[in-house]
Amino acid sequence: MDLHCFPCWGVALLLLSMPCGHQCLSVHILNMEPVYVIPGSSLVLKARIEQGPLEEVSMITWERESETGVDPERVTLATCVGTGLKCTGARPNVRVNAEQPGTTLQINEYSTADSGVYAVTLTDHTGAETTAHCIVRIYEAVHHVSVSINVSHSSLVCGEAWGTDPHFSWLYERVAITKTVGSVSKDGTTLLVTMTPFCGHFTCVVSNKLGYSSATYTAAPCEKEGRGTTAAVVCLVLLLLLFGGVLAFLLWRRHRHSSRGERLHEHLDDTI
Ligand SMILES: *[C@@H]1O[C@H](CO)[C@@H](O)[C@H](O)[C@H]1NC(C)=O
Repeated sequence: MDLHCFPCWGVALLLLSMPCGHQCLSVHILNMEPVYVIPGSSLVLKARIEQGPLEEVSMITWERESETGVDPERVTLATCVGTGLKCTGARPNVRVNAEQPGTTLQINEYSTADSGVYAVTLTDHTGAETTAHCIVRIYEAVHHVSVSINVSHSSLVCGEAWGTDPHFSWLYERVAITKTVGSVSKDGTTLLVTMTPFCGHFTCVVSNKLGYSSATYTAAPCEKEGRGTTAAVVCLVLLLLLFGGVLAFLLWRRHRHSSRGERLHEHLDDTI
């Protein structure tokens, strides 16, 4: 075998070992999907481009279409073309670059209208296209927190309408739940109440990056009347004791007066 040809074999083997032949161009968006963006902040989408040695990207296009709808409208946000891929954003709040090994799209002052399915499309020198998608939604505040009771299982269930990434926590009489009150499910939405009697105020607090909202379930009052009657009985007993004491004192004084009067009479009798 001619040793001079060894590098050629190497290249041939390399080409054969590439699973996609000359269609190796691919693109992936690196953000975790779906991406949630707080209104007014910036959305940054990063895409990684993989290309074979013979491949060449001639154009990159960033687009957005609405997530729902029968005939979603497609909006071009930015394109990168030409040698060195010069990028231009379609609007002033759009920044884009195409630096190896990928491309980055940034939308400043993000608003509800910017939500949708984002797509990045690569066009190679032969005109073939490859696309990656990513769903982007607005980060919603916590809405409509409610607590309902499951009587058969003595549990309280906390609900929330459409806030993004809600975290649930529970309070009993404005203090964090302890083992004596009950236990909270792993996802935080359910409070299994083990305390007896089932009484007092149970509050569910739902929070996310934008703030929190809460709702309270009010069970039967906790032995407030019981404690009230005890206090009343103690008061009554004290009053009776006081009254009895005063009465005894008065009787004793009267008794002393009358006996002194008798003695006075005796004395007078003696002198007469
Ligand atoms: C009460 O909770 C149990 C257990 O989680 C569930 O199977 C049942 O459907 C609930 N009942 C109501 C009325 O929600």
